[in-house]
Amino acid sequence: MPQQFSQELRRVRPNSREDAVVALAREHFERTLVTVGGRPVGSVAALVHPRLGESANYGEVFLRDNVPVMLYLLLQGRFPIVRHFLEVCLELQSNTYQTRGVFPTSFVEEGGILVADYGQRSIGRITSVDASLWWPVLCWLYVKRSRDHSFGTSQAVQRGIQLLLDLVLHPSFEGTPVLFVPDCAFMIDRPMDVWGAPLEIEVLLFGCLRSCCHLMELAQRENESRLLEQRLSLTRQWQHDLRSYLLKHYWVTSKTVQVLRRRPTEQYGDHQHQNEFNVQPQVIPPWLQDWLENRGGYLIGNMRTGRPDFRFFSLGNSLACLFGLLTAPQQRALFRLVLQNREHLMAQMPMRICHPPLDQEEWRSRTGSDPKNWPGSYHNGGHWPSLLWFLGAAILLHQQRHPNADVLLMGQVHSMLEECYWSQLNQLPRQQWAEYFDGPTGAWVGQQSRTYQTWTVVGFLLLHHLLRLNPGDASLLDLERGVA
Ligand code: GLC
Repeated sequence: MPQQFSQELRRVRPNSREDAVVALAREHFERTLVTVGGRPVGSVAALVHPRLGESANYGEVFLRDNVPVMLYLLLQGRFPIVRHFLEVCLELQSNTYQTRGVFPTSFVEEGGILVADYGQRSIGRITSVDASLWWPVLCWLYVKRSRDHSFGTSQAVQRGIQLLLDLVLHPSFEGTPVLFVPDCAFMIDRPMDVWGAPLEIEVLLFGCLRSCCHLMELAQRENESRLLEQRLSLTRQWQHDLRSYLLKHYWVTSKTVQVLRRRPTEQYGDHQHQNEFNVQPQVIPPWLQDWLENRGGYLIGNMRTGRPDFRFFSLGNSLACLFGLLTAPQQRALFRLVLQNREHLMAQMPMRICHPPLDQEEWRSRTGSDPKNWPGSYHNGGHWPSLLWFLGAAILLHQQRHPNADVLLMGQVHSMLEECYWSQLNQLPRQQWAEYFDGPTGAWVGQQSRTYQTWTVVGFLLLHHLLRLNPGDASLLDLERGVA
């Protein structure tokens, strides 16, 4: 670690202005809320942008940006806003033949009319898949927390999830349980070579299938139907197969890499394959050995024939803990890895979106020279404060569930989390709650960063809630248990 940087780390210390910062963040948050039909529905993406002015879409309600917003509102018991958000999204679920079942990336009310973007209005015409996968997750978490079972079993909700499931549970050319998507289909919505089966999408699919099962079970309890039972067992099976697939092909540790390096290649026929994707040992990147050290582990970014993507993506890995896709020992291996690679992943502004960034040559060929995704910037290794709370919630949920497991490690991980929290608390108000940070250690406010970005503000408030007010609320995101 460079000396200057280790001094920076040591400078992170408690701040006596904590209460004042939290109060200000709460005020900013209230200002992000907008209405549809005169009733609050959710938050705009950001309050101010220094350069883009009114023409940009930051004034729209993005589904993915509203995930932390809705969770925060649930914690505060502001259930009607969450229900209204879910209803408006449901109303906007696409009905046209080619996209039936898809939820919009974002929406806005203009002159009393709801306008939605399914990708046709966005730069580069991107289709976001994550928004659709998040909806059932949010719906289930709302039903569980508010106990509004009648909403969960309503015809509108049950129909919505069936339409969405139709997009997933069907035969395909691939015959695997993963969902294939184009580049830019999730939070990373500019070219980053994340097409195929990127981790974040597959983990979200797992969470989505789990949530759909809980919602269908609720309806089944009220009104038994054979058709629903069939759907349920297909969805359960799919979810099970998807999890096994991801654990088999995406999970790496230093042990699994040793196996990968010595596997046979060019295997043909239907005998037991040891190398289904015909991965040549040469594609294993040299940085992997140091990164994994002895006992670290993580889910790699993507698996494609001959071309696994070994980059580490923070959100997909954090969600894999929260949704219970990774086993408890695997989660601890992941926390160990984050701790070991703290100078890359946290640095001066926790937390980096992916590591390592594509270098200049790769940036040119794999992003099409996308100016925002320059090495170390924005989606290409930039630092996004909004990501920290997901990892924080995963750590706290783990500690809650396994209080006696590896207390030494978990103590260190918890202190790291505290220090990251202080680091945000000290910097974010000064940096006007910026969207992202750039540079090798995330010290600089992103070149095109918006300010007063909603998920930066609300991510901080969620972490404050979990660390200071009620750590037990980390179970809000626990998808493992259905309705008792
Ligand atoms: C950018 C981000 C995207 C986010 C949107 C609104 O496009 O890449 O993830 O949803 O801004 O904040």
